[in-house]
Amino acid sequence: MAAAEVRYAVADPSTPPPGLYAMLCAAFDEPPYENVPALMAKRLAAWPDFARSNGFRVVTAHRGSELVGVCFGFVDVLGTADEPALWAGLYERLRAAPFHDELRGAEIVEFATARAVRGRDVGQRLVDTLLDGRPGWLLAESTAPAYGWYLRHGWRVLGPPHDATAYVVLARDATVER
Ligand SMILES: CC(C)(COP(=O)(O)OP(=O)(O)OC[C@H]1O[C@@H](n2cnc3c(N)ncnc32)[C@H](O)[C@@H]1OP(=O)(O)O)[C@@H](O)C(=O)NCCC(=O)NCCS
Repeated sequence: MAAAEVRYAVADPSTPPPGLYAMLCAAFDEPPYENVPALMAKRLAAWPDFARSNGFRVVTAHRGSELVGVCFGFVDVLGTADEPALWAGLYERLRAAPFHDELRGAEIVEFATARAVRGRDVGQRLVDTLLDGRPGWLLAESTAPAYGWYLRHGWRVLGPPHDATAYVVLARDATVER
C-alpha cells in the first residue's frame, strides 16, 4: 500500500479520534513498553484535560476508514496538562532543568503509526504537520526503537527529565535536513 493512499487531517481535539485506543495499543505492543492497554486507558482518560488545555493539537493519518497514525501535543505553551497519574510534577521539573529554554514550540505527547504503514514517511509527515514550522520537544524511552528513529530524524538529546528515569527529553529544530 503506497504512502499516497494515506490521508492526513488536523482532527477535532475535543474528543479522541475514533479508533485511537485500539491503534495506540497495537502500535505500542513492542518492548520496552509494558502494560500498554492500561497506559493507553490512562492517556484517554486524561483527554478531557488535554482538550481543555491551551494549544492542544491533534493530527491523524487515515487509510480508507482506518486510523493509521496519530501525533498529538501542545503548541506554543509549556505544561498546561499535567497528568498526575503518569507524570506528577513533570512540568515543574522541566522548568527547573538546565535545558528548560530549549523546550520551545510544540510538545509531542503521543506519536505512533500502525505497523502496516511504517517506513513510508507517515510518522515524519505527522510530526511535521503537528509542528507546522515550529521547533518541537518530547520525552522518549531511551530503549525503544522509536528512540533511534528520533535520532535519525534530526532530534537531539537534552537530558533526563529527572533522576532515575528511562526517559530522555529530545528536541528538534523547526526544520531538519532530509
Ligand atoms: C516511531 C514511529 C511513529 C515511526 O513511524 P514511521 O511511520 O515508521 O516513520 P517514517 O516512515 O516517517 O520513518 C521510518 C523510516 O522509513 C523510511 N522511509 C520513509 N519513507 C520511505 C519510503 N517511501 N520507503 C521506504 N522507507 C521509507 C525513513 O527514512 C525512516 O527510516 P529510518 O527510521 O531508518 O530513519 C513508529 O515506529 C511507531 O509507531 N512506534 C511505536 C510507538 C512509539 O514508540 N512512539 C514513540 C513514542 S515516544
